[in-house]
Amino acid sequence: MIVKEKIGEGFLDLRICDNLELMAEIKDNTVDLIYCDILYGTGKDFGDYQDLKPIRSEIEKHYMPRVKEMYRILKPTGSIYLQMDFRINHWMRCLMDNVFGYDNFLNEIIWWYRRFPAKQKNYQAQHDNIMIYTKTKHHTYNEQWTEKSKKSSKLGKRLVDTGNGTRTTIFTNEETKTRLGNVWEISFLNSQAKERLGYATQKPKELIERIIKTSSNEGDLVADFYAGSFTTAEVCKDLKRNFIGCDINPNGFAKAKERGLFNFIVYNVKYMSRFFYGLYLMLGICIFYFLGRDF
Ligand SMILES: C[S@@+](CC[C@H](N)C(=O)[O-])C[C@H]1O[C@@H](n2cnc3c(N)ncnc32)[C@H](O)[C@@H]1O
Repeated sequence: MIVKEKIGEGFLDLRICDNLELMAEIKDNTVDLIYCDILYGTGKDFGDYQDLKPIRSEIEKHYMPRVKEMYRILKPTGSIYLQMDFRINHWMRCLMDNVFGYDNFLNEIIWWYRRFPAKQKNYQAQHDNIMIYTKTKHHTYNEQWTEKSKKSSKLGKRLVDTGNGTRTTIFTNEETKTRLGNVWEISFLNSQAKERLGYATQKPKELIERIIKTSSNEGDLVADFYAGSFTTAEVCKDLKRNFIGCDINPNGFAKAKERGLFNFIVYNVKYMSRFFYGLYLMLGICIFYFLGRDF
């Protein structure tokens, strides 16, 4: 199934298919940013999809051909963000190093969120890992700023030189922001969250907004090959980026429609082509039959 929606100068290209199929259609060095919230290897059945098992050979079998394709289609100025958690991040890091090269490992974002405490004989998981790789050192990077914590003693204050070799503190409004670091505290989408659509493992828009603002510009092409409910597509629409992406689960399209990403008929190319093939075959048989008859 394919939906291509034109928005002003830009477009959203949404598909329901295996991501290898979609990536095979994309030309080399054409995508500015890839963000994928991948399969975490929990082995769980989330209802919307079945996760991979935490077995290294299975993880590598699934990801190696896909990560190679991601490398092929990424522009030399592009970046790739892969989101996962503690279960497979060590294997994925080695795999990404093999394909992108250790020198192109840019950083790891820790997305930290609070949760209701659950009783278990282990520390409660409260963060995801987002690995960032680039293809070259010439990647797009728009610095982001965030509000300083309320506890910060530097809030609204700055040390300035007095001119006679000493320094003094002045009070200012301009210093309430600080450069965004690699630990991000953003709320998890709980059951009451306004933007929640009920898709298993749906991610908050705020998280994806930061990534897209940092590593792409207006008019750039952003891809998400594990799109789920198409959160990335909605953020791209809001931020005037072009989008291409897919999910293997048809329920993803229902969620994309709820987001208002399209409102026209969805067509299924595979079935349409089979339908026309059948029609032409019938037509051929009829012509053959009538031409062969004695009138
Ligand atoms: C962690 S979820 C993504 C959730 C998404 N970030 C959101 O906000 O809704 C991973 C998604 O990958 C999809 N998926 C798994 N294997 C796939 C494949 N081979 N091709 C495309 N999508 C796949 C699953 O159906 C699932 O929706």
